[in-house]
Amino acid sequence: MIVFGIQKGGSSKSTSSAITAYMLTQQGYKVLGVDMDPQGNMTSLLANAESIYEFRSNSILEAMKDTQASGEDIYNSYVHKPADNLHVIPAEDLLATFPRWIYTEFIHRNPQRLNPGLILKTMLDKLLSYYNYDFVIIDTPPALGDQTVNALAAGTHVITMFEPSKFCFDALPTFFETINIVKRDLNPGLVSVGILCTIIDARRTDSRMFMDALKGNEFFAPLLFDTIIHRKATTGRISLYGFEQNAELENAIEDYNFFTKELLKRL
Ligand SMILES: Nc1ncnc2c1ncn2[C@@H]1O[C@H](COP(=O)(O)OP(=O)(O)OP(=O)(O)O)[C@@H](O)[C@H]1O
Ligand SMILES: [Mg+2]
Repeated sequence: MIVFGIQKGGSSKSTSSAITAYMLTQQGYKVLGVDMDPQGNMTSLLANAESIYEFRSNSILEAMKDTQASGEDIYNSYVHKPADNLHVIPAEDLLATFPRWIYTEFIHRNPQRLNPGLILKTMLDKLLSYYNYDFVIIDTPPALGDQTVNALAAGTHVITMFEPSKFCFDALPTFFETINIVKRDLNPGLVSVGILCTIIDARRTDSRMFMDALKGNEFFAPLLFDTIIHRKATTGRISLYGFEQNAELENAIEDYNFFTKELLKRL
């Protein structure tokens, strides 16, 4: 169960998590995409729907609120099946109300005293005991709130996204601090698989400067994936053309071929 995260917005979390999910299906694996971002971008990329609002009443939010549901209920009601080997639990804007639900309702009728950070994990554990996936890929929002904490508490592995900017560079220490807090309090087995540098424009000196700064840092350097994801118009246009009948798909996902291989070696 692999979480893609960083609280800096626009760092290719959704693009990379969706392409990785797709690449794993191409290798014959059965994959579940879980969208924990109210923007619903992973849903747009994977769910093969006209609009994310089709999922307004049976999205990840309802799946997490339905605390009495069995694994079978979750599979039948909230797991969407755009392809045999690619399933999705979608998100849309109302997932933004998840924290409000936790603090106005959930904590007051919660006889098991379940930690609010474990709501997603509890739901996914039930689902996975009913239906088996080779990989669960979780996309997160650009914030360190309850959605991201739930994702980190549910995952077995986390990939930290880095796009070369000062804002993203400054976000890294707090993201790793959050990983450590989640490991301490909720999910001791969580493994930080690595830092994936993305949207890299090799011609820009500032991109190179940030990469060099990471390589020179004793904590970050060993975590860096050898693969870097370059800025490519074709990769950006996956949000327009999707994965089916996309004439430029091969070019768009080229770097992710190498990334997926490296990821599988590291797991
Ligand atoms: N390798 C790439 N080359 C070119 N454009 C890219 C690449 N990766 C992502 N993009 C584009 O950059 C933008 C941000 O990517 P994306 O939405 O995946 O980031 P994100 O981290 O999920 O953002 P948010 O924090 O808002 O959820 C999008 O418009 C996407 O199409
Ligand atoms: Mg996103």
